[in-house]
Amino acid sequence: MKTIKDIDIKGKTVLVRVDYNVPLKDGKVTSDLRIRASLPTIEYLREHEVGKIILISHLGRPEGRDDSLSLSPVADRLGKLTTRASFVDEVTGPKVEEAITKMKPGDILLLENLRFFPGEEANDPDFMKSIVDATKADLYVQDGFAVIHRAHASTDAIKNYLPVYAGLLLEKEITNLESAIKHPKSPVLIIIGGAKVDDKQPLIDKFLDKSDHIVIGGKIAADGYKPTSDKIYVAEDFDEDAEGHKLDIGPLSTSKIASFITDANTIVWNGCLGKTEDPAYATASTIIAEMIGEKQDATTIICGGDTTGFVENLIKVHPNLHYSLVSTGGGASLEFLLGKPLPGLESIKE
Ligand code: 3PG
Repeated sequence: MKTIKDIDIKGKTVLVRVDYNVPLKDGKVTSDLRIRASLPTIEYLREHEVGKIILISHLGRPEGRDDSLSLSPVADRLGKLTTRASFVDEVTGPKVEEAITKMKPGDILLLENLRFFPGEEANDPDFMKSIVDATKADLYVQDGFAVIHRAHASTDAIKNYLPVYAGLLLEKEITNLESAIKHPKSPVLIIIGGAKVDDKQPLIDKFLDKSDHIVIGGKIAADGYKPTSDKIYVAEDFDEDAEGHKLDIGPLSTSKIASFITDANTIVWNGCLGKTEDPAYATASTIIAEMIGEKQDATTIICGGDTTGFVENLIKVHPNLHYSLVSTGGGASLEFLLGKPLPGLESIKE
């Protein structure tokens, strides 16, 4: 995979696809994991004397222009995390061209939400060409790992117009996820939680041969998941509310999982083990997250939206916890682990 480390970027105008599809509340960003994850690439470009940095992203699933899904609040947050970042509420046209003319080397310009325009999701080559023309970009950096499973203009059609290179976030995600699939160091432990068994069954099937233990917790276990192999351990005791709803796995199951974690050299965790939005039922997930984050020398991968959010919050309280990867991609990481073709990745290889 060609990355930005393979090319000379000095003085170049670089169009960077990031994934700033972040949660917003009352016009403010409530989790900036994906914005912070994009900074190493930006810093690398600046250290290597890039010309102009133009960032593009989607946010949410708007149908046409929708001010509540503007990237403007994201630009505000980006401006607090780095310097010289500005925003323009278009992706092409005179406003964009004028803003770019005023940019100095190393300046950042974030364009408006790509999905305000039908051409993005329609994978319309003309739409992408209009952005390339307006920005006068010399090359394209794909760093929006979380969106590489979509065949959209900014992941797929772009390859018709500019050479595409991987950014540092994309490289980090792929390298770590790959290490869990290709020749992982055993014992390999897969921990599956969450609510929807249909979403997780393909992951269980995929890893059955590759892993030493697969643990099932969360609502999937509470609903009575039936294991099909000796390798699969389904949580056997639960914490219940007054009405008898099983909302967390219990101490017996937690200590069994803890013993697997102690031995494991590769761990992939996808899905919380209880209803963690209620702190009363976050006990098992907290114990497991701390144990994994304290492991030295193991490959430890956290993926899936609820799990990464949970672990990110825990890291804020316990900054000493360390994971090889807290993936920024929900659907993308799952599809990569399942071995599905990813259009955004194919564009880089071609
Ligand atoms: C995500 O949050 O998983 C990515 O940004 C992709 O978003 P999408 O599911 O709306 O395509």
